Amino acid sequence: MDEFIRCFEEAWNVARFEEVLEKEPSAWKLLEDEKNQERLVSKCWLEKKPLDIFAISKLLKKLLVSLEDRGIEASADIYKTFNRSRLPPDSQYNPALHDGRVLPFYHSRGVLLQSGTTGLCSWPAAWCLAEFAISDVGQSIFQGASLLELGCGTGVGGIFTAALLRDNKDSLDAERKLFLTDVHNDVLAVAQINADAAKEAKLHTEVHELDWCSYDRRKLEELLDQTDIVCGADIFFEPCLFPDLTKLLHDCLTYKPCVRIILAATMRNEETWRKFLEECKGKKLRVAALGNCLDLEEYFVYERSSILIVEVSLE
Ligand SMILES: C[S@@+](CC[C@H](N)C(=O)[O-])C[C@H]1O[C@@H](n2cnc3c(N)ncnc32)[C@H](O)[C@@H]1O
Repeated sequence: MDEFIRCFEEAWNVARFEEVLEKEPSAWKLLEDEKNQERLVSKCWLEKKPLDIFAISKLLKKLLVSLEDRGIEASADIYKTFNRSRLPPDSQYNPALHDGRVLPFYHSRGVLLQSGTTGLCSWPAAWCLAEFAISDVGQSIFQGASLLELGCGTGVGGIFTAALLRDNKDSLDAERKLFLTDVHNDVLAVAQINADAAKEAKLHTEVHELDWCSYDRRKLEELLDQTDIVCGADIFFEPCLFPDLTKLLHDCLTYKPCVRIILAATMRNEETWRKFLEECKGKKLRVAALGNCLDLEEYFVYERSSILIVEVSLE
């Protein structure tokens, strides 16, 4: 039972849950007792762990199906918690930095692919980008740099990258900037809320609209003039955007050859990634892997599936 409970404490860990199921079938006996079921779901801290909402939901579904398969009646609590995990209330998440200081961070669970609001919640690749930035390799690239984030969504990638680096005694001063960019108005509004909170934490953050498919070249150049690293997390989801996205990356590198482009890519679909690589090749862009979420020191809680950190440069 304790093993089960640990899976729920580490709510993203569905694979572990399945492993425990196989190893300890006797635990199911304990779950026939409704009190034990309630004990289990009381560990699903939906409010405290909004970032894990998808994983928690997946885990609860798995639990419900497994109970049903065994003819064990699931308690009303499990159904109630599962239903709540499907609702999209907005939420604030308060991750603590190294020194215990908390950087309030707002995001929404109301993610609608169709209306283009995937940027309203934060994605694992963004946390991965921040973790990479404070790895040894990452620090040698990011330390002291001003950042421009593409498709920033809530801004989590850029904000926590900057916050962690500063925590790590990076000499952050008024000179160093963080530009958060995206295309969707609702997403930009959320990024602005987080940028304002980041300003309180003394990160010089600005939010700008930057549509990969139609951008004002002068405005891009103005931002690049003040940027050392162009970064982005989970922006490789839609192949029809790749021609524009790679053209933008190419424009950045030709306008400012010393700028570095560091991206965190969630490997959801091999075909999609292959198309991105092909598009890069066609534009004479080289894509080199710098790291993987599984090799990084764990700093945040997120689903550690396959997330690559890559650098895009001119061939
Ligand atoms: C999967 S979300 C990732 C958000 C954020 N980087 C993260 O990892 O949490 C993809 C983001 O790309 C943005 N996006 C999609 N198409 C875009 C475009 N044409 N120009 C700029 N941003 C775009 C979306 O608004 C969304 O914020």
